[in-house]
Amino acid sequence: MEERDKHILRKTSARSRSFILQLSVLLPTLALVSGILAITLWIAAPQTAATQPAVEVSKADDLRPLYAVAEDIAEGKRLADSSCATCHGARGISSMSGVPHLAGQRPAYLYLELKAYQSGARGVSAMNNAVKFLSDDALVKVAAYFASLDPVQGTGTDAAKAGPEKPDPVQAGKTAAAACGGCHGETGTSKTPGMPSLAGLDPNYLVAAMKAYKAGQRKNDMMKSLLASVTDPDMSNIALYYATQKPARAQTATPGDPAAGKSAAAACAGCHGDQGVSGNPATPSLAGQDAQYLAATLRTYKDGSRSDETMKGLAASLDDNAMKNLSAYYATQQPQAPNVRKPLTVAEWVERCDRCHGVNGNSTDPRLPALAGQRADYLTKVLHDYRTGARRSPQMLAMSDVLTEADVDNLAAYYARQHARAFVYVIVPSK
Ligand code: HEC
Ligand code: HEC
Ligand code: HEC
Ligand code: HEC
Repeated sequence: MEERDKHILRKTSARSRSFILQLSVLLPTLALVSGILAITLWIAAPQTAATQPAVEVSKADDLRPLYAVAEDIAEGKRLADSSCATCHGARGISSMSGVPHLAGQRPAYLYLELKAYQSGARGVSAMNNAVKFLSDDALVKVAAYFASLDPVQGTGTDAAKAGPEKPDPVQAGKTAAAACGGCHGETGTSKTPGMPSLAGLDPNYLVAAMKAYKAGQRKNDMMKSLLASVTDPDMSNIALYYATQKPARAQTATPGDPAAGKSAAAACAGCHGDQGVSGNPATPSLAGQDAQYLAATLRTYKDGSRSDETMKGLAASLDDNAMKNLSAYYATQQPQAPNVRKPLTVAEWVERCDRCHGVNGNSTDPRLPALAGQRADYLTKVLHDYRTGARRSPQMLAMSDVLTEADVDNLAAYYARQHARAFVYVIVPSK
């Protein structure tokens, strides 16, 4: 045994009654004893908390399943066979959609979740009745039993069904916007008088505008029919595509007097920004926009055919000449890209998730769930649950509310495909 490990052993047995051995790194001596190849030390003592991920150190109680002995596990198995196998499968390998595999899941995590179902903290599901009448002792034992099993590998999972990785949303948006380029310009900068540029507009505004056309609130029969078959996810992708293109001034003529427009624009700056670059996603930027479109739009606000109370009031006092000048001023301003976070790739996400969930989702903390080899449908479901708040966890809310639909599907499929490794722990007798 290496000197470092001997030291840890001495220190640990002197201070606490047990420590946990876990699969991961090669330690030949121990491998001989246990017949297992990969082992690292994980010490269940508070002084190592600093090396663990940023998760609150739970009460020692939460780690009780780690101390289970063979007799406890045998009792856990009896309970599992009679009360859990109908849904979670024999030996914790589920073949039911929406029901997670439990085999090889981390022991303290299982126990904590069972308590969460019991207290109602994890919402309403088939689990509430399954655990309602179980004693705390029974929860400890059944958790220890499932944790001791070999996790499912490859063929047993529904990972294959999860399908190929979804393309990244910007790419998907480009594809979905193929039919729009003829009028709006390929990268969203208009070359046609009367057609608005879409680059430089906030994606929230673009989505709202598309939905308003589709629902008929914003009246334009042509845009309505063009968007009729475009789905909500496609609209988000299209908006993201245009928002991530480099904006430029529309390549169209600017009739009117920009200097006269500039002084009139003082009344607009509060909402549309000093040079027509808006800081508010609900208010469109005007900088670099096609002048003819701007003037036509002001007319439609004035005559009420485009309904917006704020803009109607403002446009009411403008005559045709003032509209033209304002439009010329804004059209000659330099547009800017909206402040949009470029979406992370699956690999970039995984790197973040693995900080807590272990390499490729093989958690090395008994309180944190392994994701490797878990059912993709279940992973998708719980990620949605975190986002909607149906399942509450401060760490996971922070992670999941920024995920797109495509991210959720991709991450669920990714982790379902990973090789799941078991969690092995032994009890060291006290001195
Ligand atoms: C009637 C079907 C059913 C039975 C019986 C059942 N479960 Fe479940 N179990 C589920 C479903 C469905 C979920 C997922 C619920 C959710 O999304 O929160 C689940 C989730 C769990 C989880 C959470 C796993 C995770 O990765 O977060 C644990 C732990 C669990 N069950 C343990 C048990 C144990 C132990 C028993 C037996 C005492 C049992 N279940 C009996 C259907 C069942
Ligand atoms: C045949 C030409 C044409 C095509 C093709 C077209 N549009 Fe349009 N689009 C227009 C015109 C004209 C307007 C201005 C309509 C109005 O006055 O409200 C417009 C307005 C818009 C607006 C509102 C812009 C703003 O500043 O408020 C959005 C968003 C939009 N289109 C998106 C799309 C998308 C997405 C597609 C492809 C699915 C598309 N358009 C295809 C001509 C077109
Ligand atoms: C109180 C805030 C406010 C002020 C002041 C304001 N706007 Fe607006 N403007 C908006 C909002 C909000 C919208 C989006 C309304 C909608 O969805 O139709 C808008 C939309 C527009 C549009 C349509 C842009 C597009 O891409 O379709 C134009 C053009 C416009 N405003 C011009 C002006 C001008 C010119 C002035 C000054 C005379 C002005 N606005 C003052 C809030 C304001
Ligand atoms: C800061 C640490 C942290 C990070 C980073 C993190 N998680 Fe979690 N994750 C947790 C904790 C803690 C739980 C258990 C929470 C609970 O009890 O509901 C959890 C639970 C989960 C679960 C539920 C597992 C099950 O069996 O029910 C899934 C799925 C999950 N995380 C996926 C992810 C994904 C995907 C990412 C990256 C986008 C991620 N996590 C990033 C801490 C983290």
